[in-house]
Amino acid sequence: MDNRPIGVFDSGLGGLTAVKELEELLPGESVVYFGDTGRVPYGTRSRETVRRYARQDMAFLTRHDVKAVLAACGTVSSTAADIGAALPVPYFDVVGPTARAAVKACRGGRIGVTGTSATIRSGAYAQAIAGLDPSLQVLSQPCPLFVPLVESGFVSPEEEITRLAAERYLAPLREAGVDVLILGCTHYPLISAIIRRVMGPDTVLIDSGREAALALGEYLKDRDMLCAPGQPRTADYYVTDAPEDFAAGAGLFLGHGVEGRRVEDIESY
Ligand code: DGL
Repeated sequence: MDNRPIGVFDSGLGGLTAVKELEELLPGESVVYFGDTGRVPYGTRSRETVRRYARQDMAFLTRHDVKAVLAACGTVSSTAADIGAALPVPYFDVVGPTARAAVKACRGGRIGVTGTSATIRSGAYAQAIAGLDPSLQVLSQPCPLFVPLVESGFVSPEEEITRLAAERYLAPLREAGVDVLILGCTHYPLISAIIRRVMGPDTVLIDSGREAALALGEYLKDRDMLCAPGQPRTADYYVTDAPEDFAAGAGLFLGHGVEGRRVEDIESY
């Protein structure tokens, strides 16, 4: 048994979708969450900048005595895996577990990948899928408007503006006949109903946050690293700017409210 918390981080609010999955799958586990709300978004930034931010975010979490680190952010996951692999605690990101689930679900030979511009530019998903099954075709599509649309609350299935954006981004993937679509960004599960409608009922959607949470849960169970039964659960949330906005937006991603504590000096980590 290991009663230490799981460390989860993201560029901002979005990683709370992964925390929600962890709450469902591993309800006894404590969490320390770090959201870099002062420097979000990461998905439009250069590889060098994302890597610098990711290094600091991971250093912050490892100073909180966590038993494992989960990079919930698709952008960090696809850009800074080597930095995570060098941590003194087990590191999980969304790319490997999501690619494995997509390959397993793929029947027709074509996988679509969606994510931020930085995630798609990294080629991390295409590489991971090719490593699992080189016969599969991967079609990648950045969807940069999805993050601001979700953060603006345009998530209801009837939301015309989001449907139009989804139609525009996803039409090439639908026309190419992908049978599996990776939602490779923290925010996309919130508009999965719209994405599903655009892609049609036969496309399997793979939620990267859920796959990463499942993989982390398996790992902890296999090594007897879950918290002891009856251990009181704690959840601490740290953000680098505007904790009041974080608290206001958290409900959309997590399904319940949380308070965020402010971190002043992330650049010093
Ligand atoms: N969390 C980011 C991701 O999953 C989306 C928001 C951002 O661009 O920072 O890639």
